[in-house]
Amino acid sequence: MTNSKTTLSKLLAESNFSQECKELLSYLPKDRSFFAEYLYQYQGFWYPPNLLEGVLYSQKHFQARDSDIILVSSPKSGTTWLKALVFASVYRQEFQTPLESHPLLDNNPHSLVPFIEAFNFHTQDTFPRIFSTHIPLGSLPESIKKSSCKVVYCCRNPKDAFVSLWHFMKDLVLKEMVGCTMEQMVKGFCRGSSVYGPFWDHALEYWKESLENPKKVFFVKYEDMREKPEDWVMRIAEFLGYSFTEREIENGVLEDIIKLCSLENLSKLEVNKVGKLMNGMETKAFFRKGEIRGWKDTLTPLLAEEIDKTTEQKLIGSAFRFFC
Ligand code: A3P
Repeated sequence: MTNSKTTLSKLLAESNFSQECKELLSYLPKDRSFFAEYLYQYQGFWYPPNLLEGVLYSQKHFQARDSDIILVSSPKSGTTWLKALVFASVYRQEFQTPLESHPLLDNNPHSLVPFIEAFNFHTQDTFPRIFSTHIPLGSLPESIKKSSCKVVYCCRNPKDAFVSLWHFMKDLVLKEMVGCTMEQMVKGFCRGSSVYGPFWDHALEYWKESLENPKKVFFVKYEDMREKPEDWVMRIAEFLGYSFTEREIENGVLEDIIKLCSLENLSKLEVNKVGKLMNGMETKAFFRKGEIRGWKDTLTPLLAEEIDKTTEQKLIGSAFRFFC
């Protein structure tokens, strides 16, 4: 068993929780899971106990500032990439030579942009502060909703996000856990019982909010960013109030940022090949293929159909469409 597997198992284990969390765990609906022994349903979404504790902590203690930027996604939907792109775009004046001496060359994006449910948000002292989270809209800390901070949501098609999660879990934890088959994991995913699931509700809620409150929430699809990264990075920067000027574009600043943050570039950096995050997770786990419709290599037609059927049901009455 490798260290990262041991660490992740420890992280997912039910121990050392606050009294409040323990009490909550004793009566919340729970479901057997492959991520931890149980996932718990809190405010409509499912969490392993350690993440639930983080959500509760952030609900209580996270104080958003008007200038904050919050990057949101479901797991395996492009979080790492979005963190890199927004970090590099927003701080581009500070780090003007991105390809030579940029913090992203020595730091994994997750170390530069912390998750608010990971307890270490107090240490962020940059301006503006950039955070990320997987917390669903309805469970965000009140101060995020009330302040003028901006939210960028990145969504990915459910089959690719599922397959990405499958590989991530398989490499990191599943090998040591009670024989989980892909069929079982698809079933859990489709009934919503997946980390921060239901996946569909998560995306739909943020999508609706982006329509109702476009100055607050910007919604982007991973696949659109893959196809036209320049367009989307410019739109995100504009939304955040950090528009690229024509001169910057002519001078290749935007192009440099896209190159710096590309999967090809980030995944070959030492820090992302052999590095570890503060929680012990290996940074290489966040970089794989980044393909659109890569699910075809992993999902059988039957399992793909099962996810498609769930998607169809979830979208009844909604104009939203995932990339497919
Ligand atoms: P795959 O597993 O399909 O390859 P997250 O960052 O939310 O955990 O999502 C991980 C997914 O994003 C993985 O997808 C990973 O390869 C992809 N990814 C990571 N860094 C990326 C980058 N710089 N550009 C594009 N995709 C990236």
